[in-house]
Amino acid sequence: MKTAAPPKHSKILILDFGSQYTQVIARRVRELQVYSEVVPFNVPAAEIKKLQPNGIILSGGPASVYDKGAPQIDPEIFSLGVPVLGICYGLMQMAYHLGGQVVFTGRREYGAGMLHIANGSQLFDGLGHQLDVWNSHGDEVTALPKGFVAAGTTESSNFAAVEDRQRKLYGLQFHPEVAHTPRGKEILQNFVYHICRCPMDWTMGSFIEEACDRVRQQVGDENIVLGLSGGVDSSVVAALLHKAIGDQLTCIFVNNGLLRAREEEVVQRVFGENFHIKLKYVDASKRFLEKLRGVTDPEKKRKVIGEEFIRVFEDAIADLGAPQTSNLKHQTFRFLAQGTLYPDVIESVSIGGNPSQVIKTHHNVGGLPEKMHFQLVEPVRQLFKDEVRQVGLQLGLPNEIVYRQPFPGPGLAVRILGEVTPERLSILREADTIVQSEMEAAGWYYKVWQSFAVLLPIQTVGVMGDQRTYENTVALRIVESQDGMTADWVRVPYELLARISSRVSNEVKGVNRVVFDISSKPPSTIEWE
Ligand code: XMP
Repeated sequence: MKTAAPPKHSKILILDFGSQYTQVIARRVRELQVYSEVVPFNVPAAEIKKLQPNGIILSGGPASVYDKGAPQIDPEIFSLGVPVLGICYGLMQMAYHLGGQVVFTGRREYGAGMLHIANGSQLFDGLGHQLDVWNSHGDEVTALPKGFVAAGTTESSNFAAVEDRQRKLYGLQFHPEVAHTPRGKEILQNFVYHICRCPMDWTMGSFIEEACDRVRQQVGDENIVLGLSGGVDSSVVAALLHKAIGDQLTCIFVNNGLLRAREEEVVQRVFGENFHIKLKYVDASKRFLEKLRGVTDPEKKRKVIGEEFIRVFEDAIADLGAPQTSNLKHQTFRFLAQGTLYPDVIESVSIGGNPSQVIKTHHNVGGLPEKMHFQLVEPVRQLFKDEVRQVGLQLGLPNEIVYRQPFPGPGLAVRILGEVTPERLSILREADTIVQSEMEAAGWYYKVWQSFAVLLPIQTVGVMGDQRTYENTVALRIVESQDGMTADWVRVPYELLARISSRVSNEVKGVNRVVFDISSKPPSTIEWE
């Protein structure tokens, strides 16, 4: 089990039983300015004890406690003297292992319900007598373990909320972490602040100080190299490492020729001129475009770009090392920094689910560490995306970097269907610039997950003045999403669509038609390739 707990904080551990909401619980606790960490459900009590949590939350999960192979907690955890809150399946675990009775109802109860609060539980302090709650469960508690009393009931359950105050064990059949339980945050707050007695000591200011200390300890006086893409994660890592170790950090920014308009200017201005970070700018556009000549298959494009990136990066490092010794690929920089985030680190528990499949190959800097024997520096691996953004703002990064929309590693190549040529790149760049500026002007850019143009490999007939035209089609993709895993197209105002369409078809030479993509993910993906 990998844990990355910072030493000086109070901490809530979340045992993951496979719920789709596990990470949401972790985020809700962090929003209370208390550090939380997700660990697998089967961590032994002895290890939990070593981690010294102030409280434990048991997540929900899709299983029934009676299923063959159902995830089971180490029951010793309930005797550690640490407060525990079981949510949904977590409650079932509590009841099942402590001698209560759980029945499998054979149906899952979904949806809104009304909780009637009884017995003045500390969990519901300040919340009145009844609450709207969101249910999603299959098992049900029918008899309580010794020492427990009901703390709340719903129409369908006498034990929708239960507690053993003496042992500080609490259970909820409903989900306090989801938005459909409107006052759920206050329930978690009562648990975290009052029952677990956690102070609010998880702030991004203290994180920055501690992260800087950790990095200094890890690298000493060695040098770190970072592949800076201009995206939020690597940008925040650059600013953070610069604060920690100054000129021991060198960033390499590769222009693969597939960037948006003026992207290289923005990155050089922000990091080179404003932050005075050592920045090696590598214009490798020609290399990439040569390799992409004649390539039309989407996966082949991604592969070519990923491989070329590694070569360019290796060459850049060799260049940087050259003046000091002759064979320095591995000596000048012993450390490679990466913008790995907490969701990539959590060991995911898959219970009765399918292992997720590779739908598209994501090529960013994957493959670099193995090939080049770097040690990794991952200073934001404890953070969720919204926390990374806060850190970025505190370090003085501008909004245009901190709140920018995600941009895929293979860049505009996966938005040009068919062959990537300089002409087609320039058409797409112009269209993309118009899309971005109109989205910004209308106040929509920061409200959506992504908004971009795609250049299709078809030409259609149009009319310009008295002339017949036969030109390219641009598709407009505007989506909302939480994490890129699922997405829906955004119902932006028609006037905005009209402005974008008219500007793109009038101003971008070579385009005479604009279409709007109204597909959700699934079944479509966000990018077209
Ligand atoms: P898809 O197209 O798979 O995209 O629905 C989901 C999200 O991931 C982004 N994306 C990438 N990001 N490297 C990245 O860093 C990649 O190769 C890559 N491919 C897609 C995409 O923009 C969307 O936000």
